[in-house]
Amino acid sequence: MTESRFISSAVSNGNPYSTKWEAPSNIALIKYWGKTEPQLPKNPSLSFTLSSSVTTTEVHFLPSGKEEIEFEFYFEGALKPDFHPKLNSFFERIKTYIPWITSYSLKISSQNSFPHSSGIASSASAMAALSLCIMDMEQTLFPELSKADFNQKASFLARLGSGSAARSVEGPVTLWGKNDIQNEGSDLYATPFGANLNPLFKDFQDTILLVDKGSKAVSSTQGHQLMFNHPFANQRFVQAANNLADLISIMKSGDLDGFMRIVETEALSLHAMMMTSNPYFILMQPHTLEIIQRVWKFRKQTQIPLCFTLDAGANVHLLYPEMIKDKVRSFIADHLASFCQKGQYLYDSVGSGAKKV
Ligand code: DP6
Repeated sequence: MTESRFISSAVSNGNPYSTKWEAPSNIALIKYWGKTEPQLPKNPSLSFTLSSSVTTTEVHFLPSGKEEIEFEFYFEGALKPDFHPKLNSFFERIKTYIPWITSYSLKISSQNSFPHSSGIASSASAMAALSLCIMDMEQTLFPELSKADFNQKASFLARLGSGSAARSVEGPVTLWGKNDIQNEGSDLYATPFGANLNPLFKDFQDTILLVDKGSKAVSSTQGHQLMFNHPFANQRFVQAANNLADLISIMKSGDLDGFMRIVETEALSLHAMMMTSNPYFILMQPHTLEIIQRVWKFRKQTQIPLCFTLDAGANVHLLYPEMIKDKVRSFIADHLASFCQKGQYLYDSVGSGAKKV
């Protein structure tokens, strides 16, 4: 499967069009860390699509007749020219695949459901929501586009904005990257896990403990770069592929012990890569470690299947089945909330993917 199948033609119907999409954030269970141009992952990854942490984006397409990409970007009502460089490079990357875009001027307005500077990465949901608005416009120009092709190309475009955004189009679990288990697995876009997902995981809970809401010392994009010449990079890519193979069968069987072992291994391996890159860095905070220790102690004492994962930051995502949510939520309120900044945490759960608003 090559990129060329995603190239559409440069038609325009000369009509304005407006659309609005809501796309979710996602939390990786198998981590993407390391890539080559253009945004191709060095290992396959798998994630839960979330339901409450979303970006809503509205795009007005106005015929411009200028033959160049023109846009304005508003975030939570205010014009934000500082987002232009990132959006410019996104449009540069995608314009080959949507040549009609140069006939329009775009007014893009975006907002997040989660609080400002919560440390929750918004690039995945933001790039997915924008890509879906673009695909919706494409659908008006090419009405024969099937639902499956629509989603695949939306994921393909989103990936070119931010790798993990490829996994924010569909739900409840998505896979991105070539792998030995899934024939249709591709580095170009993510695909849903499929019908064999154990029902246990369809309503899994994710409570995000906001340990540090500040901006990160090292961005994900810089972190990916540090996987070049990393002494353990190759072993890490092999480990991720092996963990994925094990996790895929666990996601079918519902083996929670296996699930927790792999998810926590992946979180700690991701941070181990950060600690051993050149230059090295640490994104966990003392409270991140305190929470991890308490989760382990709680699990040992109660046998309740509560585990954690981390993204590229200090916040902790606590993952647990829906049926035990009351017990876990009391534990969080009584024993973990004090380690969150201003006592803040967010309840989220696995969701079904992006939708038109
Ligand atoms: C640790 O997708 O944010 O969250 O492709 O440079 O935009 P870019 O990076 P990004 O990296 C995500 C890293 C991660 C793991 C993951 O989501 O798989």
